[in-house]
Amino acid sequence: MSLSLRRLFHRKKEKQERRILRQIESSGDRLQPEYHRATAECPHPERWRMFDSMTAEAEVLEFLRTVVTTTKPELVVETGTFSGISTLWIAEGLKANGRGRVITCEFDAEIYKNAKARIEASGLSEWIELRNESSLEMKVEGTIDLFFSDSDMPIREQEIRRFLPQINPYGLILMHDASSHLKIVRDAALKLEQDGLISAVLLPTPRGLVVAQKRSGRH
Ligand SMILES: C[S@@+](CC[C@H](N)C(=O)[O-])C[C@H]1O[C@@H](n2cnc3c(N)ncnc32)[C@H](O)[C@@H]1O
Repeated sequence: MSLSLRRLFHRKKEKQERRILRQIESSGDRLQPEYHRATAECPHPERWRMFDSMTAEAEVLEFLRTVVTTTKPELVVETGTFSGISTLWIAEGLKANGRGRVITCEFDAEIYKNAKARIEASGLSEWIELRNESSLEMKVEGTIDLFFSDSDMPIREQEIRRFLPQINPYGLILMHDASSHLKIVRDAALKLEQDGLISAVLLPTPRGLVVAQKRSGRH
């Protein structure tokens, strides 16, 4: 791609994220029917709800909280904070458990600032460590019990490979945006499975959610 095309592409992408943030600022968090396109695995996306097209589906947010209360992770890592909504649902689960923390990273400084303000106003800050850095550079200490991959779609495979040695074999890996129409994350999950690194289940939500587990270390 030429430099000018790349700049144009980057500007467009920035615009979309900033535009959604502006919408959230002006109209607040409003649930609406999901409008991602129907797929063979999810023919009625309108039966799901969403706040906006960046934030995970409302039902996936509920799932995140329930996975946290069900498995009681000590350490959750999330890549891709955006406005912080999924982080807050994870933190709600941690609060209900009375233990654990979530480390979440957002590499865009302006988006990070926005998420920081939301998290500070939420009353859930004590469960959250928000970082302004890239998932491909972020260093985390300790064993990760729940890994939620929700950053830029083309780097999800890299993220999983990078953090895999630190992921608890009895823990869970979640990869969002794994629908067949978004393809790239689905293909990444299937490749990681073919390479013998994870076992994956593809949940048929409008944007798709992989629930996976690391294969090595399981007994
Ligand atoms: C789909 S949104 C995350 C949505 C959020 N998890 C939720 O459901 O509320 C993806 C976010 O990842 C950020 N991002 C993209 N690549 C990243 C990277 N390498 N490291 C950290 N954040 C990244 C983008 O700026 C964007 O805000």
